[in-house]
Amino acid sequence: MPKEKIKTVYVCSSCGETSPRWLGRCPSCGEWNTMTEDVVRETKGKSLSAPAASAGAARIAASRLTDISTTEEKSRILTGISELDRVLGGGIVLGSVVLLGGEPGAGKSTLLLQLCGAISRQVDVLYITGEESTRQIKLRAVRLNVDEENIMLAAETDIGSICDLIERTRPGLVVVDSIQTMHCAELSSSTGSVAQVKECAARLLSVAKTWEIPTFIVGHVNKDGAIAGPKVMEHIVDTVLYFEGDKMLPYRVLRAAKNRYGSTNEIGMFDMTGSGLKEIENPSSLLLEGRPIGVSGNCVACTMEGTRPILSEIQALVTKTSFGTPRRAASGFDFNRTNLLLAVLEKRAGYFLGNLDVYINIVGGLRLDETACDLSVCLAVVSSLMDKPVSDDMIAIGEVGLGGEVRSVTNLEYRLKEAMRMGFVRAIVPKHGLKQLDLKDFDRMELLGVSYVRQAIGLL
Ligand code: TYD
Ligand code: MG
Repeated sequence: MPKEKIKTVYVCSSCGETSPRWLGRCPSCGEWNTMTEDVVRETKGKSLSAPAASAGAARIAASRLTDISTTEEKSRILTGISELDRVLGGGIVLGSVVLLGGEPGAGKSTLLLQLCGAISRQVDVLYITGEESTRQIKLRAVRLNVDEENIMLAAETDIGSICDLIERTRPGLVVVDSIQTMHCAELSSSTGSVAQVKECAARLLSVAKTWEIPTFIVGHVNKDGAIAGPKVMEHIVDTVLYFEGDKMLPYRVLRAAKNRYGSTNEIGMFDMTGSGLKEIENPSSLLLEGRPIGVSGNCVACTMEGTRPILSEIQALVTKTSFGTPRRAASGFDFNRTNLLLAVLEKRAGYFLGNLDVYINIVGGLRLDETACDLSVCLAVVSSLMDKPVSDDMIAIGEVGLGGEVRSVTNLEYRLKEAMRMGFVRAIVPKHGLKQLDLKDFDRMELLGVSYVRQAIGLL
């Protein structure tokens, strides 16, 4: 019987750093008041974190990079949910571990159950739940109308038994909902603590890599919106996805924060309906739906989310200020960028806004972080100021510089094609950008090239 030693350690809840005594500030990540007490049980001679003794280490061999085969077609599985496939970089990579984070009620469990349903036509799926009972999952599966044939369920929280079950059944996909409810018997600290989460994630990872089983792990987020538990968990997994959605908005956005097998620019959009999540294949039409026609202060912009152009409406309201200092507010658009553009309008285009309040709003709760939307913001502001509507079949694309110049943007062709598809017939674009375009493709659209903001305003 190995001798056991019980040790008290202090673990940083932010980064997982350990210390034998309490510290006010974590020496590793610099966060204050994050060290919490944790009890660790160590079996003598078999410490969980002790490095392998070099004397007894096995001899390993390295392989040549050219000898390692990667048959990409074989190593990915398409889920059949195209929005999810896109965010993952073209399907699930075999052996990859994906961490899915999100607020409670965002729809993480719903998304994963639908994923199980979609993929179970190709492979066997093992769904492990530590939050709901198998009956609850069954009821949800019936409501979501998922294909139940090849889905195995287990309500279990002991990570040792779970790893054993995975190794015995060798499914084609594993879902673990959620890592915070999992628990490792070797550690005596409470479920959900940093040490537990770290250890459970490491074990799942090791099983996933050994048997090449793609694994999805649900992670709760803390009050700051980051995945609760140690940051190391985000480092060890291959992909970190966030499922976001404002309670006020009907749709949810799936975003990759890290992806070892694809870009992190792509987003997937879903609509939460009574019968589960539905993919939104045409976000532009959703965002432009019900757009007021003939009202001043609106201008349509086009932003790229990864490889996908999305049209969105920018609204501006310019009113007389009732206080000494004018108010500026921006929702969905960078506040500093708003101030910068207003300064450019004053200095370079001669629109005096010093005694006026300016409000900017991006419809649909989207965040536009791209400078390609600058020109639309400027036009919306001037339109509101002059009370002159921007024609509703017109779109503006371009970055605005401090000299009042309109600069080229990337992917102009894709943006214009999306605008054309959505029925826009006139586009104000950077003059320099016109050179890169094949004008034959845009015979249904009038392209108005401008070099300065002043010229663009003149076209209103
Ligand atoms: P859920 O997947 O349980 O969220 P999470 O696992 O991220 O906490 O989703 C819960 C929410 O989704 C709940 O508030 C109700 C809503 N919902 C629907 O609107 N329709 C549905 O078909 C389902 C299953 C859930
Ligand atoms: Mg859930």
